[in-house]
Amino acid sequence: MAAQILMTDPAHYRVGYEINPWMRPDAWSADPAGNGRAALAAWTALKAAIEEHGARVRVIPGLAGQPDMVFPANAAIVLDGKALVSRFRCAERRGEEPGFLAAFQALKAEGVLDQVVQIDAVQEGAGDCIWDAGRGLFWVGDGPRSSPDAAPIIARHFGQEVVRLPLASERYYHLDTCFCSLPGGEILYYPPALTPEALRRLRDVVPATLLIEATQADAEGFCVNAVALGGAIIVARPGPDLKRRLGERGYRVVGLDLSPFILSGGAAFCMTLRLDLESAPALVTANP
Ligand code: ARG
Repeated sequence: MAAQILMTDPAHYRVGYEINPWMRPDAWSADPAGNGRAALAAWTALKAAIEEHGARVRVIPGLAGQPDMVFPANAAIVLDGKALVSRFRCAERRGEEPGFLAAFQALKAEGVLDQVVQIDAVQEGAGDCIWDAGRGLFWVGDGPRSSPDAAPIIARHFGQEVVRLPLASERYYHLDTCFCSLPGGEILYYPPALTPEALRRLRDVVPATLLIEATQADAEGFCVNAVALGGAIIVARPGPDLKRRLGERGYRVVGLDLSPFILSGGAAFCMTLRLDLESAPALVTANP
């Protein structure tokens, strides 16, 4: 079945407050109409690139006054048809919760999801909880936005292993700003964004040959915040070195100008939410 990806109509998108160090309301308000047009063009290009790579994109409406709904990665963790809907840390984003709950209920009514439950902890969705399909585990970030209390709830809810990766800074405030799990088992990550404890856990689980270190320029360009679809990696304009390194691993890198969203501290991965991820079928042991 084709990958299914959720995106939010960007009509209500703008940068009007600052809840992470990348947000630039000044740059937005210098030219709101021009920035709005650029944002629509960037969003449309991302949607087209995702569709060209075989995925189906479902678009939900945003809510007026909730500009960051355009980042649905923060709305829920989805696996095996179950959506575990977020509770946002910042008051500015809490008003998104009813809009996303309604959207997920509608997807349930359509048969796209089987279950919709809101998490009982502060947790910002797939932005801080990344499914690693090859290893069959969730990489779970905590720090500026998600509470460490969420990790055991996620593990129980989905019946899956979680590996907690505490984040080291306000700058890389969601795990998806500094960490990306690629289909070949590689992890693209920016080491300074993870605490020593997180780095130890990561290196215990993933062999060095599969760890790809992003540079500061890659991380600041939001190039780690990527959408991997089969052999393609769709990402905010990568530098030549990152493009070459991913190319050597067999990936086709599709670079897009997502600068209007980087003004809010987000890019490709957080502008999307995968709806179709599945855990591998449980191994049946042949015990009599
Ligand atoms: N302005 C948004 C916020 O601060 C950006 C969210 C980007 N999402 C992400 N998963 N990194 O919440």
